[in-house]
Amino acid sequence: MSTPHQSPLPVLVRDATEADMVQVHSIYSYYVTRTAASFEELAPGVDEMIRRRAAILERGMPYLVAEDHGEVVGYTYAGPWRPRSAYRYTLEDSIYVAPFVQRRGVGRALLGGLIERCTGMGYRRMIAVIGDSANQSSIALHRAMGFRQEGVLRGVGLKFGRWVDVVMMHRVLDDGAGMLPDGQIAPPLPEDSPQS
Ligand SMILES: CC(C)(COP(=O)(O)OP(=O)(O)OC[C@H]1O[C@@H](n2cnc3c(N)ncnc32)[C@H](O)[C@@H]1OP(=O)(O)O)[C@@H](O)C(=O)NCCC(=O)NCCS
Repeated sequence: MSTPHQSPLPVLVRDATEADMVQVHSIYSYYVTRTAASFEELAPGVDEMIRRRAAILERGMPYLVAEDHGEVVGYTYAGPWRPRSAYRYTLEDSIYVAPFVQRRGVGRALLGGLIERCTGMGYRRMIAVIGDSANQSSIALHRAMGFRQEGVLRGVGLKFGRWVDVVMMHRVLDDGAGMLPDGQIAPPLPEDSPQS
């Protein structure tokens, strides 16, 4: 599925429109039905994908697509990590690139755009919850984009008749660790270390 060393595909990264959700649906359905990257087992319909995008936008968060010659070849969005108020500066990303353009820089362009947008909005942390320890492309993409692995939840999903891990990765956005939102210097985190 993933073909290394292909020429980079220059894409336009832009906000998703409702009309894009037909192609977004097609990309997501591929991964839901064939891989454990998503822990959904039945692909949602286009209407549900439209509803999900609207819910992200209602929260003021970005939902981006990568476009190549008018075709959507990938998408990404950020949503709240968890609802408790102390998590309000922390987001979770989701990213999917069409299988026929993998390893051509689309994921990097999309995730870079998402990080830039979320950083500009004042968010401080981004978390990736990656389905399947075998999902090396997502683990490697997030590592390449400055995330570090924080842990593995062993066998917490059951998909295609096997127990599936979740790999937790995490990235500081901008000055996420060093500064409080009001501009005060933050006390250091225990054992906090620079991003590798
Ligand atoms: C993960 C995914 C979004 C990556 O998108 P992509 O467009 O293929 O990634 P890119 O080409 O931008 O890769 C950027 C970097 O990530 C790393 N990388 C990506 N895929 C890799 C792979 N299969 N093996 C090793 N490294 C990989 C490399 O460092 C790469 O840089 P390089 O090509 O210059 O070496 C894509 O593979 C995908 O949609 N996977 C299925 C869905 C999924 O798992 N989504 C994530 C859910 S959390």
